[in-house]
Amino acid sequence: MRALRTPFALLLTMAACSGRSAPPAAPPADDAAPPTIAEAVAFYARQPRYLQPVPYTPVPAGLPDLRAETCGLCHQEIYAEWRVSTHARAWTDDAQFQAELEKSRTGRDVSWMCVNCHTPLVNQLPKLVAGLRDERLDQPIYVDNPDFDAALQQDAITCATCHVRDGVVLGPYGDTNAPHPTRRDPSLSTSAVCTQCHQATATFPELTLACVFDTGREVAEGPYGAEGYTCQQCHMPAVDRPLMTDGTPVRATRRHWFGGSLIPKHPRFEGEVAPLRAVYPEGLAATWGPLPASVAPGEPVEVRFEGRNAAAGHMLPTGDPERYILLRASAVGPDGKTLGEREVRLGRVFEWHPTVRELSDNRLKPREARSWTLVFPAPAQGPVTLRLEASKWRISPENMAYHNLEGRYVAGRTFIDTATTLPVQASASAPKQAEQREKQERPGP
Ligand code: HEC
Ligand code: HEC
Ligand code: HEC
Ligand code: HEC
Ligand code: HEC
Repeated sequence: MRALRTPFALLLTMAACSGRSAPPAAPPADDAAPPTIAEAVAFYARQPRYLQPVPYTPVPAGLPDLRAETCGLCHQEIYAEWRVSTHARAWTDDAQFQAELEKSRTGRDVSWMCVNCHTPLVNQLPKLVAGLRDERLDQPIYVDNPDFDAALQQDAITCATCHVRDGVVLGPYGDTNAPHPTRRDPSLSTSAVCTQCHQATATFPELTLACVFDTGREVAEGPYGAEGYTCQQCHMPAVDRPLMTDGTPVRATRRHWFGGSLIPKHPRFEGEVAPLRAVYPEGLAATWGPLPASVAPGEPVEVRFEGRNAAAGHMLPTGDPERYILLRASAVGPDGKTLGEREVRLGRVFEWHPTVRELSDNRLKPREARSWTLVFPAPAQGPVTLRLEASKWRISPENMAYHNLEGRYVAGRTFIDTATTLPVQASASAPKQAEQREKQERPGP
């Protein structure tokens, strides 16, 4: 729709997420004329960046539609990569999202905020917001969107989200010979293309709602930011290849898997996500501290174990407030009896009612290492098996049950499970360095 083009394009130049929006200038009253598309354009223009959808775009000349599958007819490999990414799964394939979206519609409706990031293009929204009743964010006044494309909505965070503006395909090169209009966009090679969604912090106390995506700032203000890292360097590994599987020249390109936690969004996606674990490192490295060569029967034993944010450029975990990591150390006797165990939870804890409040945050900063002590009595006979396990979670098993997600969602996965043995000897020897374990560690900065 031509009328939408110019105003929505202007939004692109607006500052990134900066907290609460200014109150709308003139929301349509209940008894006023029906809401219009022009009012929707003006409404979104007044919102902070994270509450704006990506502007409406016409289909680029030479292409039948904006759908990822259409781009994939030519860009086969990139399409196949994107297809397994969490971005492609951010709509109906994400059962947790759908459950929360449904709840966010009942009574007080804040669902319009959610869809701006999960189905971000205006072309993907069945309804647009033309204003708010009583200036309340949970009282949107909707107008039907004449440009809604239901198939494109299924694509969630699709190619066009990052690549199409005003009917032009934005790319990193500018010297290509494509069957569609192209323009070089240098911002595609910076973190800005990611932080439009991955950087959004705001609290809406009256809605018991908070946006706590601080990943952009965590990178920028940490050691990786100082070294000039972008999100793409870690999440879109570089590879030389042609843009199409036949005929076009080899170029410096990037993978489109956008791998992160690599917890599949549905049990049936495990098979397609598993191979990516060889490509992307786990954020956490876990090791034992120096271990004694042996321990004396019946004596109290004290060993240290360490968790380190070895590979994530941001907090570990980052993003969603419900994410956490469990690191568990245990000592087991030869009879299988647990002699001692210690479990550490790394994450944030929020209180959501009556108001949103962060109660604690013990996540690991980029490259931060922390250690804890495991204490247990040595058994009469050895050996003792020392186990170190780590798992990461999108959602707790309790909340999984609360949302009724069993069988439709994957709460988390175990990514470290190691065992080492400690002999029990009458005369315990002096502590020695655990050379093998030290070797596993990468040299720290
Ligand atoms: C239009 C909004 C948007 C943009 C732009 C965006 N993302 Fe995302 N990203 C999301 C949403 C929403 C999710 C979560 C989807 C879900 O879980 O259903 C997500 C998930 C992720 C994940 C988590 C994967 C996982 O499951 O652990 C990674 C990693 C990621 N994005 C990286 C990036 C990078 C890198 C960029 C820039 C090149 C980027 N994103 C741009 C919205 C966006
Ligand atoms: C979340 C944002 C995002 C999505 C979704 C996305 N891309 Fe990209 N794409 C990028 C970024 C960023 C680059 C540039 C990376 C660089 O050079 O730094 C890129 C680069 C490209 C390139 C140039 C070659 C290369 O890899 O650098 C092509 C072609 C491309 N994308 C096609 C697609 C297609 C087709 C889809 C959908 C199947 C898609 N992209 C989905 C962000 C995205
Ligand atoms: C009919 C085949 C075809 C379709 C469909 C197609 N492309 Fe392309 N695209 C090409 C070719 C060919 C090139 C240029 C290859 C080269 O010169 O290396 C290209 C180049 C690109 C570039 C790089 C532009 C630059 O100069 O940086 C991007 C990004 C891109 N396409 C994204 C997309 C997206 C997104 C879609 C879907 C909306 C899409 N393409 C649909 C064939 C296609
Ligand atoms: C130095 C490499 C590095 C950089 C830079 C980086 N990431 Fe990550 N990121 C990781 C790793 C490794 C993980 C996997 C963490 C884990 O084990 O779950 C991850 C995970 C994520 C996740 C999933 C949530 C989680 O904690 O698992 C999101 C979302 C994400 N990154 C977004 C971004 C965005 C956005 C940027 C840029 C602002 C960025 N990352 C920069 C390495 C990096
Ligand atoms: C500012 C953009 C933005 C808005 C607005 C937004 N989300 Fe998200 N959402 C994201 C990003 C980015 C992620 C991925 C973060 C991560 O993986 O850590 C995500 C992930 C999720 C997830 C998956 C969590 C996980 O750990 O896999 C759910 C569920 C979700 N969002 C629900 C919602 C709901 C419900 C709303 C509206 C009340 C909403 N989101 C609004 C950007 C947004």
